[in-house]
Amino acid sequence: MKYKSQKIAYWFFATCMLLFSLQIIYGFVMGFARIGMDGLHDFIPFNAARATHTNLLVVWLLTGFMGAAYFIIPDESGRELFSVKLAWVQLISLIVVGVVAIIGFHLNYWEGRKFLEIPRPLDFLVVVNVLMFIFNIGMTILKGNRYSTTQLVLFIGLLSAALLYLPGMIYFRSQTMDSYFRWWVVHLWVEGVWELIMGSILSYLLIKLTGVDREVIEKWLYVIVGLTFLSGLLGTGHHYYYIGTPKYWLMVGGIFSALEPLAFLGMALFAINMYRKSGREHPNKISLYWTIGCSIMSFVGAGFLGIAHTIPQVNLWTHGTLVTAMHGHMAFWGAYAMIVLAVITYCLPLLTGRKLWNNLPGLLSFWLANIGMTAMTGAFAVAGITQVYLERKMGMDFLTVQKEIQIHFVGLIAAASLFTIGAILFIYNFIKFGLPSDEAIVPENTSDEALYAAKRG
Ligand code: HEM
Ligand code: HEM
Ligand SMILES: [Fe+2]
Repeated sequence: MKYKSQKIAYWFFATCMLLFSLQIIYGFVMGFARIGMDGLHDFIPFNAARATHTNLLVVWLLTGFMGAAYFIIPDESGRELFSVKLAWVQLISLIVVGVVAIIGFHLNYWEGRKFLEIPRPLDFLVVVNVLMFIFNIGMTILKGNRYSTTQLVLFIGLLSAALLYLPGMIYFRSQTMDSYFRWWVVHLWVEGVWELIMGSILSYLLIKLTGVDREVIEKWLYVIVGLTFLSGLLGTGHHYYYIGTPKYWLMVGGIFSALEPLAFLGMALFAINMYRKSGREHPNKISLYWTIGCSIMSFVGAGFLGIAHTIPQVNLWTHGTLVTAMHGHMAFWGAYAMIVLAVITYCLPLLTGRKLWNNLPGLLSFWLANIGMTAMTGAFAVAGITQVYLERKMGMDFLTVQKEIQIHFVGLIAAASLFTIGAILFIYNFIKFGLPSDEAIVPENTSDEALYAAKRG
């Protein structure tokens, strides 16, 4: 690393690893409950496990984005972070809010709004926390002496994500209105501003890993931002089909959301093209695997499996079934989990100064996690499609159908176990890297090759 303050990124990444592990544990609690092994029911009922699983996911991804920003923004701005102290206060308060929220879920202190289960009073603390973060990186950019497209798109993505949290905090008596604005958070995050965060981290990593000119890479970034806004904003309509909103949303949502895969396709073509243009062999190959892998898996999970159920004529049958869970897993994994794991893999050698890239656990972790997640997606798909036919086409009772599809959750648990071995290997490698060290600091104008070459053994 070039600036001492970048070390704070490590602690955000370490928090990520912890929350990711917990998320997986709650996934298994649900998986086993689904096959009738629900011994923990009195302490962790399904609804609490589900809310914990999905909220931990969102929080570890946001923590990863913040860690990435604390590493990338000083590098791109050419100066130390505005305040390391503030970043520490922010990290600790984020953990405290998270712990309170999760304990709350187990004590039935929650709001039954999917993905926005955190009770409103805690939302205010989240807002304060995010404001500290935005202020810190915003001041770093302002006081820095360099501006770049990558850095500004990252900042705008993070700022918009913060602003879009607010519509979910408004209180409505009407279920339709509440649902309407809930999607401003959930949809406009993952199919809007988070794509800017993903695109800019992708762009940063490709600049570093492929050595292709910044100008070329940043031109692609503009195209991706354009495609995202063109499709994603009105694409929100694909959640407005059946919640009591006017009928025109069927048309608007259908057409615009069908265009959304273009942005993900753009990112995949972008990454692959830059890789092919790459004039050098970067030492950190596994980080390149995660980066290119992310662009491809996000296209499959978000783009391909998204379009598979976004047309009203299909969504009419699949809405709210396990088909949604199929898409949700691969999309979140491909787009956002993988970009966070890519940036962690890139940064760890630079933060700690240890040459532990390209080892067997790292390589196995990439393949096992991805094969496992693909198989999990398959298990959810079989369960979901069967559910649609039995419950919605044949008219069988909901709970009877849930019993019929139980067997597919045995498959899910097997696939998830493979995935988990991959995740454990990733965390094992993370721990082996050890703590960040001042010895890893290099002069400002060091190139990426020299940066990697200069590391301690
Ligand atoms: C590895 C172990 C995992 C297992 C066993 C697991 C299992 C589950 C189960 C059973 C559900 C509830 C589905 C239902 O409604 O019945 C669920 C929901 C969900 N999980 Fe996982 N999961 C795992 C890991 C992950 C990972 C790594 C991610 C993201 C990268 C993820 C993202 C989600 C999402 C987004 C939902 C909500 C889906 C929806 O909206 O319908 N899960 N998971
Ligand atoms: C990385 C980007 C994406 C992620 C992380 C993601 C994740 C999710 C999740 C978690 C849900 C369930 C939300 C809920 O019920 O509260 C969902 C729903 C949905 N997604 Fe995505 N998605 C992404 C991109 C896309 C794209 C590009 C499309 C369309 C082409 C799409 C189409 C849909 C549709 C139609 C639903 C509603 C399913 C239903 O009716 O139950 N998604 N998505
Ligand atoms: Fe959406």
